[in-house]
Amino acid sequence: MQEAKGRGEWSSKLGFILAAAGSAIGLGSIWRFPYIAGQSGGAAFVLVYFLLVFTIGISLMMGEIVIGKKGRLNAVGSFRALGGSRWSLVGWGGVIASFIILSYYGVIGGWTVAYIFKSFTGLMGVSAAGDVARIFQDFISDGWQVVLYQVLFMAGTVFVVFRGVSGGIERLCTFCMPALFLLMILLIGRSVTLPGAMEGLSFFLKPDFSKITGKVFLSAMGQTFFSLSLALGVMIIYGSYLPDDSNILGASAQICFLTFLVSLMAGLIIFPSLFAFSLEPGAGAGLTFITLPVVFAKMPGSVFWSASFFVLFFFAALTSSISLLEVVASYFIDALSWSRRKATLVVGGVITLMGLPSALSQGAVEITVFGLSFLDAADFFASNILMPVSGFFTVLFLGWWIPDAVVDGVVNSGTPGMKERVWLWILKIIAPICILVIFIAGLRW
Ligand code: TRP
Repeated sequence: MQEAKGRGEWSSKLGFILAAAGSAIGLGSIWRFPYIAGQSGGAAFVLVYFLLVFTIGISLMMGEIVIGKKGRLNAVGSFRALGGSRWSLVGWGGVIASFIILSYYGVIGGWTVAYIFKSFTGLMGVSAAGDVARIFQDFISDGWQVVLYQVLFMAGTVFVVFRGVSGGIERLCTFCMPALFLLMILLIGRSVTLPGAMEGLSFFLKPDFSKITGKVFLSAMGQTFFSLSLALGVMIIYGSYLPDDSNILGASAQICFLTFLVSLMAGLIIFPSLFAFSLEPGAGAGLTFITLPVVFAKMPGSVFWSASFFVLFFFAALTSSISLLEVVASYFIDALSWSRRKATLVVGGVITLMGLPSALSQGAVEITVFGLSFLDAADFFASNILMPVSGFFTVLFLGWWIPDAVVDGVVNSGTPGMKERVWLWILKIIAPICILVIFIAGLRW
């Protein structure tokens, strides 16, 4: 991706897919997905998530990419160019939600950094699951430590966005993503062969339909938006760098498939080992950080595996956090003509400060909102409220305001076929109704 004032283009089709998949695959798949699934009924949640990813998720992703490709500007600018200034409000909503998400994303990103170091300093020396849970609890209640690592993670994010995404990070991702993939396959092998693993597999894969409620649907929809980086304008910006003749359907399908696959793999590692060590699936935000070390400890060369995993996990989180900072920073660069340096430093600094209550809310200081910790409340508000609202208006915009441009953007001036017509109907009717119903049902029930 080029950062010059003249608009750049992706150097290759793969470059786009890697950057978009890099944004999508991150804490959402490896940290958020297992813990939300654990709290929301296991396999029933996985099933609903699957359905939503491959209907609303993929349609919205294609739609956002088209908005960028047609508008050729950032989220706010592209909405304004295609629909007038009223619609630019949707882009604005995305900028605000990105602020909120990145504020606590940096906190969890910091946890991954901390666990790289902890792999060498005793984390692998303990064998009982209870000890690992205690180490985690002690860590997140230690405000200084948590904030230190949060600041480190945010500094890394600012550094990369400041330097421009094209050089190092893109090359790094080409290595990190496949490496993460291979390591996860290895971990699945270890996890499912633990004694007692079967119970975990059935919790994760055998749906109990009685557990499907409006709340489960709302959580799954929030997870769909969050994990695919939708509704905040990331895909609009990335789409704006696409050449005219790109295959958007194919690219979106690949990104959705990869994200779903990594989430599934994370679940296949975490749930079997969870049940094997009699831990609680509903344990909440710490799930990944409590379960994985126990699995590593059961492998020869545990320190090596643990450190490698958390390094790759950190890079997966970093390629997502840079896309969040890019949304906000690019707005300040375009609209207020700030320099890239000023925008990334100021915005990054403000977001880090905004993350402090989330960082401290995990045990250091009691900060709750509606009975949720500050971090959970920020996450709920951004993922289950702001994102669905912004997603709702985005599909309305696509399906009813600019349907011709939308179809044209996908078929590249060719004739629309069956696939495109089905997609348009999803955008016009199915997606808005589903989002609305899930949103209302989820909040009430
Ligand atoms: N999808 C990322 C993850 O799963 C998080 C993320 C990055 C995101 N950019 C986004 C979420 C934009 C929503 C919108 O970790």
